[in-house]
This record gives sequence, C-alpha cells and structure tokens, in this order.
Amino acid sequence: MQLLIKGGRVIDPAHSIDGHLDVYIEDGTIARLGTDLHVPGAQILDASGLIAAPGLVDIHVHLREPGFEAKETVATGCAAAAKGGVTTLVAMPNTRPATDCPEIVALVRDKAAPTGVNVLPAGAVTVGQKGQELTDFAALKAAGVPALTDDGVPIQNLALLRQAMRGAKKLGLPLLDHCEDRDMVQNYAVNEGEASRKLGLPGRPAIAEELQIMRDVMLAEETGAHVHICHISTGKGVDIVRQAKARSVRVTCETCPQYFTLTEDEVFRQGAMARVNPPLRTQADVEAIRAGLADGAIDAIVTDHAPHTAGEKSKPLPDAPSGMVGLETSLALSLTGLYHSGLLPLSRVVSLMSASPAALLGLDKGTLGMGRDADLILFDPNLEWTIDKEKFVSKGRNTPFHARTVRGKVKYTISQGNIIYQED
Ligand code: DOR
Ligand code: ZN
Repeated sequence: MQLLIKGGRVIDPAHSIDGHLDVYIEDGTIARLGTDLHVPGAQILDASGLIAAPGLVDIHVHLREPGFEAKETVATGCAAAAKGGVTTLVAMPNTRPATDCPEIVALVRDKAAPTGVNVLPAGAVTVGQKGQELTDFAALKAAGVPALTDDGVPIQNLALLRQAMRGAKKLGLPLLDHCEDRDMVQNYAVNEGEASRKLGLPGRPAIAEELQIMRDVMLAEETGAHVHICHISTGKGVDIVRQAKARSVRVTCETCPQYFTLTEDEVFRQGAMARVNPPLRTQADVEAIRAGLADGAIDAIVTDHAPHTAGEKSKPLPDAPSGMVGLETSLALSLTGLYHSGLLPLSRVVSLMSASPAALLGLDKGTLGMGRDADLILFDPNLEWTIDKEKFVSKGRNTPFHARTVRGKVKYTISQGNIIYQED
C-alpha cells in the first residue's frame, strides 16, 4: 500500500526535523520525506494544519490480560492506545499468571498482533512477581522482552535485586524499577502530608520513594546495570537521578501526566479516582517534575495506564485499588501542561513521548527515518476538547481528568503504514 501524507508539519526529533514536508509511505515503511511529493496511485491524506510525528512509544502500560479481563483486555487496551496515538507500548507483567515465562510473553503478543499496536511485554524479574526467585532472564530475552520489571510489587530483597541487576546487565536488559519501600507505604492510599492528615489516614511518604531511588541508583552504579526509575513523582527523587546522571550512572527515569498536572489535593475532590502509586504529591513536587522534564533529568513521559473496574474504584479510598487510565489522554495532557503552558517546545514533548523512550529501551521506533516502520500520528496541537470518560474505548473509566478541557487531539494513528485509528 502507498500512502502520501501531504501538507503537514513534520516533527522528527531524532533527526532534528521540524518543517512542512510530505511523507511518502510504501509497504509499511517511510520511503521519502520531501516538499511537494507526487506519487501517482498513492492514497493521499491531507494533513494541513496538523503535525505529523512519530507514533508515541509508551513504555509503561498495564493491559491486564491474562487474568484481569474485567479491567482491560489486550484488544481494548490496544484500541485505547491507537486512539491516544500510541503505536508501541510496553505491557507490564503484573497479570495473572504473571508474565514471567516465554509462554505468557507469547500469549500477550499473539493477542496484540491483530490490533496493529506493537506490544512488547516486559518480563517479570521474579517468579510470580513474588520477590523470591529470579525468572529465566535469557529465556525471556529470547522471547522478545525489551526489559525486566516487577512493577506493582517492587523487589525489597536487596541481595536478590543485586543479583537481578547483574543478570540483566549481562543480557543488556534494562530494569524498570517501581520505587517505593513496601514497609513504609504498606497499602496506604494517599500522600503522607496534607492529604493523609486531613483525611486521618496513614500516608505514603515521599521518602519511601526517594530512599529506594537512592538505593537502586547505588546498586546501578555498583553493578553497571541500566536502571530505569518508573513514574517518578517527587522533587528529591528527580534530584537523585539528576546527580547520578552527572556521575554517569546508567540511570534513566520517566514520569506521567498526573505527576506534572495534579497535586494530592485531588483526593479531597475525587477520592479513589485520584488514588495512584506512587501517590499524587505536593505543588513543589509538581514544579520539580516540570523542571526535570525541562532540563533533561527526566527522559520520558509514560501513562502507567492502570485500568480498574467502576465497582473497584467506587470503594472507599482506603479499600479501592491504585491506578488511573491514561492512554487516551496523555498526548493532550502533555501538550496542555508542557507545551501550551510555554515550558517546552513542541518537538521536545514529541521526543519525550516517542524518540526518547524508544532510545532508552533500544527500540528501533520513535523516528521517521528513511526505511523505518511507518508508525506515525497526525494531530492537531491546538484543538480544544473536553475529556469525557464515557467516550473512552478502554474498559477503564478511572481517570481523574474527566470533564477537564485540554488542547491537542489525535486525528490519525498509522502503524506500519496502516491507519489503525481515525477520528470520526
Ligand atoms: O497505581 C498503580 N497501579 N501503580 C502501580 O505500580 C501498579 C498499578 C496497577 O497495576 O494497578
Ligand atoms: Zn508502578
């Protein structure tokens, strides 16, 4: 199939391209970028007024299948990804059974194949994510996992974690690290501070995240493993990563729209809908996260898309599960919070959501280079719209952003040359 995208502004941060160009796609790959291209017989997509950018690469998504299909399935999660402009995603292994062996990796990939979204399941670090026995890293790598993680149930046994880092380093696999000390956070619902005080609940302290980041940065430095800190939420956490990078430790990190947009106050207004791990923090933390995105201490924006059922999320705050969906709102929230606010140029927002996360996992994605997979999105960066959870294609409706007005909307999502989403 031949597709000619005409009249758009092409942003390809990996090649420092930002200009009005046509994009010609042939047989699923980028064949040519140029001005006034004419290709007889090609299907033409009019992109005037739109940005053409690499398909988004979201390296932190919970698809829930196998085991929790009431929350989400691979099919519904991938539909939400396509609608949000995500063409490649890393699926977290806290499924049931956990994604701790090649068979489950294959099952998730097989379910994803017909969706057109490139799904890369991450492998669990420990068998059943129980934190006791390491999985077979080599077998998981051979099955195609891009990284290892026990996200959702972070490893607390340091001897085991050190051994995991050594093994991961040997195979060139990054470790995606949810940092919160389990004893300090237990199953608490909100940030320790104003939120916990006013609600009279025990809280999850910032130091529980920061200590574990510090600990794991030190282990990364000692073992030489690539440790990637998941969903960073505190200012001091960002400082630790910034300082470690300055000493050339192999550490990278990500954050999510909720951490540069919302504060712990949201739990007073929205209760369990604003419950997430790590929790929403203070205004000072929000500002520090924004500063980290601006100065490069933070490498990527991900969603931590964590669907739960309406029934689960309607429980009282202390009993409801943590997590919020994000795939259908992440580009708009990032454009609104980071670009329209004047903090970052458009190309940097695009990079944080595509080229940069792809590069840190060594994926051949996130750019519009010649001969690369034609994974791209066309979006209107300015279009104002109001988030409506009832319109989500994800099974999860658990967003704290319902009824919020944002700017920036995906019009087309193209994966390997096929249009997998088109706004109606
Ligand atoms: O809020 C969260 N929800 N944080 C996690 O680390 C896991 C996730 C989930 O699986 O629901
Ligand atoms: Zn996590």
